[in-house]
This record gives sequence, structure tokens and C-alpha cells, in this order.
Amino acid sequence: MDLNTIESDDIGTAAGQPAVLSPAAKKVFIKTYGCQMNVYDSQRMTDALAADGYAATDAIGEADLVLLNTCHIREKAAEKVYSELGRIRDMKAERALAGREMLVGVAGCVAQAEGAEIIRRSPAVDLVIGPQTYHRLPDVLARVRGGEKIVETDYAIEDKFEHLPQPKRAEVIKRGVTAFLTVQEGCDKFCTFCVVPYTRGSEVSRPVAQIVAEAERLAEAGVREVTLLGQNVNAWHGRSETKGGRTEEWGLGRLLFRLAEIPGLARLRYTTSHPRDMDDELIAAHRDLPALMPYLHLPVQSGSDRILKAMNRRHTAKDYLALLDRIRTARPDIALSGDFIVGFPGETEADFEATMDLVRQVNYASAFSFKYSPRPGTPGAEMPDHVPETVKDGRLQRLQALLVKQQQDFGLSLVGSTIDTLIEKPGRQAGQKVGRSPWLQPVIVDEKAGEIGDIIQVRITKTGYNSLFAELA
Ligand code: SAH
Ligand code: SF4
Ligand code: F3S
Repeated sequence: MDLNTIESDDIGTAAGQPAVLSPAAKKVFIKTYGCQMNVYDSQRMTDALAADGYAATDAIGEADLVLLNTCHIREKAAEKVYSELGRIRDMKAERALAGREMLVGVAGCVAQAEGAEIIRRSPAVDLVIGPQTYHRLPDVLARVRGGEKIVETDYAIEDKFEHLPQPKRAEVIKRGVTAFLTVQEGCDKFCTFCVVPYTRGSEVSRPVAQIVAEAERLAEAGVREVTLLGQNVNAWHGRSETKGGRTEEWGLGRLLFRLAEIPGLARLRYTTSHPRDMDDELIAAHRDLPALMPYLHLPVQSGSDRILKAMNRRHTAKDYLALLDRIRTARPDIALSGDFIVGFPGETEADFEATMDLVRQVNYASAFSFKYSPRPGTPGAEMPDHVPETVKDGRLQRLQALLVKQQQDFGLSLVGSTIDTLIEKPGRQAGQKVGRSPWLQPVIVDEKAGEIGDIIQVRITKTGYNSLFAELA
């Protein structure tokens, strides 16, 4: 579907939602930290608050409600929240002097992990709300406006997705031609370094019909590319009602085949996956489904079997490499991406070298790498032989140098070839538009090369640090 043909009527308008916000609408500013699931959740909170009369703003100074959607994955991520809250406290005090109220809320994984402690440390905070309870936001705000401080971190029995309103059509269009869609939340894997099973709870899969309906709404509004999200997305196993009234369970591969039938949806992706949940059907989808982009984020964390065991990853380096062989046989042009942790407790120089070896063997197109950060309450934090910070620094530098080189070589290998590009948005410089390659790289083209939402064929002329430059093929 061409974006230009879209009319401005709303989609998914729940009964009672105001069609037009009055000029005096309250304003909400949301700052998002962490992973794509938080990006998706922030959008859904924006939609829930729109139904409650709040318009979104990018200017914190004019906000009546400030929400920080936080991440707890590493210590630095969590600490950032408190320094931001310090700045917000001052802003709130200034606003109070001017006779205007500014409510402050903390959402996301720090909210879930630290709960009431946040209000003790930062009394400017009015509400703390965990990721499973966002559908209660309007209700919670009503109570906060009545003078209460609220901490809402119980795992809700109702399904948040069933209760959160869908975005309006105009809002989907504003957000662009690519969209996130959370299909699965939580994680049962309990890697010993990770807080996610504690902050997001155990695995929950959304049912097929709910996901298909949401994807159809996105496609109707002009979205061309959908990325399915889950902390452990390939563990998704959703219910589907058959015509005969029975219930079947589907895996992610089957879901991808179903979503590929939706008119207008040209590209599908999913992230983040665990190596143990790559089943045959999902690998077959990579082979048989042109809409499924040839790019896979499949974190391995370490190349040392000893460390993988201590991390409770429940696979070896050899298992991972054998799995990649099967995936590459199914889809030879697939590009791989990964996550790595250096300096997990007990990691020796030899363990680290095993990680470097694995990286050399795989040849990643992109990757994220981190120094191990002990997280309170996780088994890793209690393990002996923590690695000194300076050693972690050195290893991270060596690993990143190798990964950056591989990423650049991957970009260079595309120079001269013709590829599909989805035009996404205007470029930073006049006269340019930015598209997205099948492998997730930004592709810079002349603005006349195509309209936003078009998928065009371009020839790569050169590479930038993280992007590709191209001309019409
Ligand atoms: N669900 C995803 C990852 C979620 S967190 C998966 O299973 O792969 C994203 C990445 O952060 C992880 O892959 C890991 O590399 C990193 N990470 C998680 N906990 C960490 C910690 N305590 N210290 C450093 N990095 C961590
Ligand atoms: Fe964390 Fe991912 Fe391991 Fe789950 S699978 S515990 S989210 S790293
Ligand atoms: Fe961070 Fe929570 Fe995502 S801890 S990485 S925001 S699941």
C-alpha cells in the first residue's frame, strides 16, 4: 500500500475514545531506555494515555506527565534512571513554583525490580508501574491525581495486551513504515547473568488471532516491515482456534508463514532468539519465505563451553556452530548478529580466546558486546572469581575491534551489488532519503529514488561507518 493513499480516519478506535484531542489536552513525555520491547511498550503506553486525554510531546518542559521507561539489564542502565530523576526533580520544583503540576512515573524493568525503593530514593516520583500492568495506567493516574503515591508491580492476571487500546491510524502513520509487534514476553531460561526472568516474569505468548489482527491494522495503515519481538521470541508458542472450534498450538515459523499472507506486509523479522529454540519449522521459514529477511540476531554470549555452562545457556559452542550451518544451508545469504558478554565470573584468558575463535569462525555482520555487570539477585553475582574491571576493559576492546572489522567487511562485500531497500524516512542531509537493507543497514539514496514505503532496487556505491550509500539500479 502506498502511504500517500491513506485516508486520515482512525483505526482500532475503542468506544469512548475522543476522536480529536482538545487544544488544552494534557501532555506526556516518555523517555525510553533498553531494548525494543520497551520501545514497543512506550508506544502502547502512549496509546493508552491518548485514550485518557494525553497528547505525546517531545519537549519535557511542557509535559504534565513524565514517564521513564527503564532498563535494568546492566548496572549503568539502572543508574542512569536515578541521575535523570535528579534533573526531573528540579524541573518539577520549578513547575510547582509556576503553579503547574508535573507528575513523574517510572515504568519498565527498574520499576519492576526496585518497586517502592524508587520512591524512597527519589521522592519526586509519583508512580512506579511494572511492564505487565500498563493497561492500568489511566486508573493509576486517576489515583495519583487524587494525591496518592502508587507502586503497581503485581503481575496482572488479565492480559495487558487484551486491555491496551490499539494505536489510532494517524499515529501508526506518524510512527513510520516499520513497526515492532511484541508477540511474547518474559523468559524461562534463567541465564545466570540475566535479570529478565525476574523483571519480565515467566514466558507468555500472545494468541495467533490477536497478533494477526494487530499486524493487519499496521499493514492497513501502510506499515511494510514488522519486527516480531520477545525477550525470547523463538520460544513463542501461541494458541490458534481452528475452524472446527478446536485449539492448536503454533510455533513461530508457522506464525511467520501466516503473517506473510497479509497484503502490504512485505518484510518480516523477529528478535531476540535463543539458540535452543531454533526449531525445524523456523529454519524452513528462512528457506521458503521471501518476506522473512535474511538477518538473524542469535546471541551466543561466549565461545567457551565452561563459561556457557556457568551461564546456564544449555548449549555448547559446537552446538551453536552446527545450528548456524543448518540455518546457512537453508538461507545462504543470511547475515548473523549476536550478543557477547566478556568477563563473566571465572572467565580466563583461554575462555576469552575461545570467544574470539568462535567470532572468527562465524563472521558476524553486526554484534553487541558488553562487560559483565553483576546484577543483584542473579546467580552470577554470587559466583566466585569475578574478573577485574581492567581485564574486562581489555577483552572488550579486543573483541569489539574484531567485531567492528567484520561488520565493515560485510558492508564492503556489498559494494557493487544490487539489493532491495525499503525507503523509510527523509535523510539527515537535504536531498537524501534513508532506506533499510535486508540486513538492517541504513541505505542512503537520493530523495527522488522513491517514496517512503516503497521497496526499490539500488546498487551499493560505497560504505559509511554503519551505513551504505546507493544509487537506483
Ligand atoms: N533475550 C535476549 C537478551 C536480552 S538482554 C537473549 O536471550 O539473548 C540483551 C543482552 O544483554 C544479552 O544478550 C546479554 O549479552 C547482555 N546482558 C544481559 N545481562 C547482562 C549482564 N548482567 N551484564 C552484561 N551484559 C548482559
Ligand atoms: Fe536473559 Fe535472554 Fe537468557 Fe532469558 S534467554 S535469561 S532474556 S539472556
Ligand atoms: Fe532492559 Fe528490561 Fe529490555 S532489563 S533489555 S528493558 S527486558
